[in-house]
Amino acid sequence: MKKVYILAAMAGIIFWACKHDALVTNLDQDLERVIASRAATGSLDYYIFPASTDYSNIPQSPVNPITKAKVDLGTMLFYESAFAVEAKHTSGMATFSCSSCHIPAAGFRPNRMQGIADGAYGFGQNGEGRTKRLDYLDAEIDAQGARPLAVINTAYVTNSMWNGSFGQDGVNVGTESMWGIFDPSTAINNERLGSLEGQNIEGLKVHRLLINKELVEFYGYKQYFDAAFPDVPEAERYTRKTASFAISAYLRILLCSEAPFQMWLKGNYDAMLDEQKRGALLFFGKAGCYRCHYEPNLGSMEFHAVGVEDLFENGGLKTNISDRRNLGRGGFTGKTEDMYRFRVPQLYNMGDGGPYFHGSSKNTLSEVVHYFNNAQPENSRVPSSQISHYFQPLNLSEAEMKDLESFLRDGLRDPNLVRYVPERVLSGFCFPNNDPISKQDLGCD
Ligand code: HEC
Ligand code: HEC
Repeated sequence: MKKVYILAAMAGIIFWACKHDALVTNLDQDLERVIASRAATGSLDYYIFPASTDYSNIPQSPVNPITKAKVDLGTMLFYESAFAVEAKHTSGMATFSCSSCHIPAAGFRPNRMQGIADGAYGFGQNGEGRTKRLDYLDAEIDAQGARPLAVINTAYVTNSMWNGSFGQDGVNVGTESMWGIFDPSTAINNERLGSLEGQNIEGLKVHRLLINKELVEFYGYKQYFDAAFPDVPEAERYTRKTASFAISAYLRILLCSEAPFQMWLKGNYDAMLDEQKRGALLFFGKAGCYRCHYEPNLGSMEFHAVGVEDLFENGGLKTNISDRRNLGRGGFTGKTEDMYRFRVPQLYNMGDGGPYFHGSSKNTLSEVVHYFNNAQPENSRVPSSQISHYFQPLNLSEAEMKDLESFLRDGLRDPNLVRYVPERVLSGFCFPNNDPISKQDLGCD
């Protein structure tokens, strides 16, 4: 009996190997060559994400090594509204979480032009139904003057935010004198904790989430904090800092490793359709996207002005023409040469829905591709001298643009991000939102 199984298994392996060998086409080979030539290491592997359980190969802060206990805790904290006790009005108490603005099924973006946590209610199908509460003034809501960035593949982000203001290393070496100047929260960089670790301490405050021993004990999280931070003295164990460390460990494992492009990189040549492969060839070749989007997450730590509109022009609340966020990197460094330059964002799971760009000026990927193809800045406040010299008309045909769009929309879309969503949070509250309308929308009632 055993032999039969072994033979069958061997036949299976041979069949599998042949099947895959047989399917390498010229298109695959061309694409492999081009991608390898763009990789910092000269090898295709550069673009392959480690498995999300392969902690030692995921980029991380030396101050906050990834452990399973931290990831388990962070996985719940990110969605937990029980800590939302610094809401401006009682109507907002315990109704929102980090994930109110970073929704998994929307590629960890809000699926609307602006994220609103405290001061809004509702979820709709997938975030688009969130609406400002009438009992909150615009000035009282928790919303920022730029569209939320995706928090997937942030392990590769050494300096987070559209202006790269968090993180003590990387591109912020030399900017020390600006830490805490325009945005007091960036003074956290002086603690040298890592980009996400530092940012998320401040994020918990900005988003009105409080972590203390009473709440941690009351909602049943004590044992999780104890398991994750046994070496932290008890007096410091149940704080925004430890919560940030746990959340940051969770964010670092959010890798889109099941995207068709990732499968293809790993040798499954069937994973992408020909049109997606042609689109990838354009991305890493003729269309020049790789000039800015070249790191493993297909973003980079460079800052470029591509002249897009700002959020106040596209319906953003609590922001206006003089919002410092409109200045991009320049809003942080104060340097003329950095004005209107924004960080090159990662590109996975853009297919989960728009809008796109920091000011949410484009609703579809087709519009984004046409924008890059035409290279006509839409924001007249950005001096043409600031526009990136890589932002040039591409002369792509409609068919080429369709291919490029197909690569972006589907080739780079991990269809299974739900694997990163917890089954429940310990409070038992509805998540990501816990207000009565969201509860209905989310089917929690
Ligand atoms: C009110 C909506 C909102 C909530 C709630 C929210 N965020 Fe964000 N998040 C944003 C916006 C907007 C940005 C981009 C801001 C910018 O760059 O100017 C962002 C950016 C980030 C980034 C940076 C990603 C990158 O690539 O640089 C991380 C990390 C992040 N958020 C984590 C969190 C965590 C953790 C929480 C909960 C503590 C949280 N967010 C809650 C709106 C929100
Ligand atoms: C000059 C550098 C540069 C080049 C070349 C470039 N991009 Fe970008 N890309 C950026 C920057 C910077 C942003 C963010 C702009 C902003 O919102 O202010 C961006 C944003 C995007 C976004 C929206 C991401 C989001 O989170 O909303 C997509 C999609 C995108 N680029 C795709 C492409 C494609 C496809 C190409 C090739 C046709 C390309 N980019 C070429 C720099 C570049």
